[in-house]
Amino acid sequence: MLFTLGAALDLEIRLARAGDVEQLVLFWQDLVAQTPHLASRIRRNRVNRAAVANHLISLLDHEQVVVCSVEGHLAGYVSIVAHLTPLEEKWAAATISDLYVQPIYRGNGIGKALVEDAVSRIRARGLDGVTLQVDPQNAAALALYRRLGFECAAWSMALRFGPLRCERAGVQAL
Ligand SMILES: CC(C)(COP(=O)(O)OP(=O)(O)OC[C@H]1O[C@@H](n2cnc3c(N)ncnc32)[C@H](O)[C@@H]1OP(=O)(O)O)[C@@H](O)C(=O)NCCC(=O)NCCS
Repeated sequence: MLFTLGAALDLEIRLARAGDVEQLVLFWQDLVAQTPHLASRIRRNRVNRAAVANHLISLLDHEQVVVCSVEGHLAGYVSIVAHLTPLEEKWAAATISDLYVQPIYRGNGIGKALVEDAVSRIRARGLDGVTLQVDPQNAAALALYRRLGFECAAWSMALRFGPLRCERAGVQAL
């Protein structure tokens, strides 16, 4: 079913709560399923749903998971991974991770709104930029990040024990 967001629909971008975790784990599973190299790493490391739920809970406890809810239903999420200063007093750097919008809600500006919200939370911590990794084949994500001003800041190279690839994957917005 194609879902069209109308002005009458109640769309909210907010911090994730404990009650969202079950749905977020399902989103995470779908995100991984759509990202082949992640999927094989997850299988190899035997990451299970409980581990993912615990990881999400620890992030949302620190206000690092943002969700979009449409008429009370979760439509997508983004998480922020923070790297702390040596004394762990404040954020030294931050990475945007796990951006996901449920297929029926895509193309309505939700992904953009989620990343904008995450970026403003990172800015509020006093950082001068944010980084993220994106698969160079992921046209939708690349378009979204570029639209928001992200640009390529580094080459990330990988030697995969399968087909050899060299990826242009690091992007940074200042
Ligand atoms: C990438 C993703 C989050 C985009 O979410 P979305 O809500 O559909 O994106 P938006 O509607 O906010 O689009 C934002 C911009 O990106 C561009 N964009 C989005 N999807 C696109 C597509 N399939 N092809 C080209 N451009 C696209 C749009 O042009 C839009 O720019 P605009 O404001 O000029 O129209 C979504 O497709 C998704 O969840 N994909 C699977 C998970 C994934 O790949 N995550 C990213 C990991 S790095």
